[in-house]
Amino acid sequence: MLNILKTTLSGLLLLGAAVWTIIAVAAETEDIIKYRQGVMKSVGGHMAAAAQIVRGKVDYGDDLGYHAESIARTMQTVESLFPKDTDFGETRALDAIWSEPDKFKAVSDESRAATSAFHDAVKSSDKNAYAAKFKAVADACKACHKDFREKKEQ
Ligand code: HEC
Repeated sequence: MLNILKTTLSGLLLLGAAVWTIIAVAAETEDIIKYRQGVMKSVGGHMAAAAQIVRGKVDYGDDLGYHAESIARTMQTVESLFPKDTDFGETRALDAIWSEPDKFKAVSDESRAATSAFHDAVKSSDKNAYAAKFKAVADACKACHKDFREKKEQ
C-alpha cells in the first residue's frame, strides 16, 4: 500500500514538474514576443519621425542622426528577435522565418545594408543622398514584412 502511494506521489511530482516546465517556457516565449514587438514598434516610431524630417515637413534635422542610428542599430541584430519556437501566441511572425532560414537571412542582411547606408548618408548631411537611402530602408522593411509577417485581419 505504502509503495503504491509512494509511486503515485512521485508520479504526480514528475507530472507537476513537467507541467511547470511547459508553463515556464510558454511564459518566456510570451515575454520574447512582447520584447520583439516593442523593438519593432520603436523602429517604426523612428521611421515615422525620420520620414517627417526627410520629407522636409519639420525642422528637426539635428535629430535625424539619432533616428538613423537607432534604426541601423536595431537591424544589426534583427534575427536575434526571432529565436526558434517563438511562433505561437500573440504574434504575427510567420513560420517561414524558421522554415526558410536562408531567405529570412537574405532579407535581414538587406535591412542591415540599407539601414547602415542610410545612417552613413545622414552623417554626410547630403539631403538628396539620404532621401534616396531612406526609401531603400522603407523597401527593406516591407520586403521582410511581405514574406514573414502575417497580414493584419481586416
Ligand atoms: C527580417 C524581417 C524584418 C525586418 C527587416 C523588419 N521587420 Fe518589422 N516585423 C517583422 C515581423 C516578423 C513582425 C511581427 C512580429 C510579431 O508580431 O511577433 C514585425 C513587426 C513590426 C511592427 C509591428 C509591431 C507591433 O507588434 O505592433 C512594426 C511597426 C515594424 N515591424 C516596423 C519595422 C520597420 C520600420 C522596419 C525597417 C526599419 C522593420 N520592421 C524591419 C519582421 C521584420
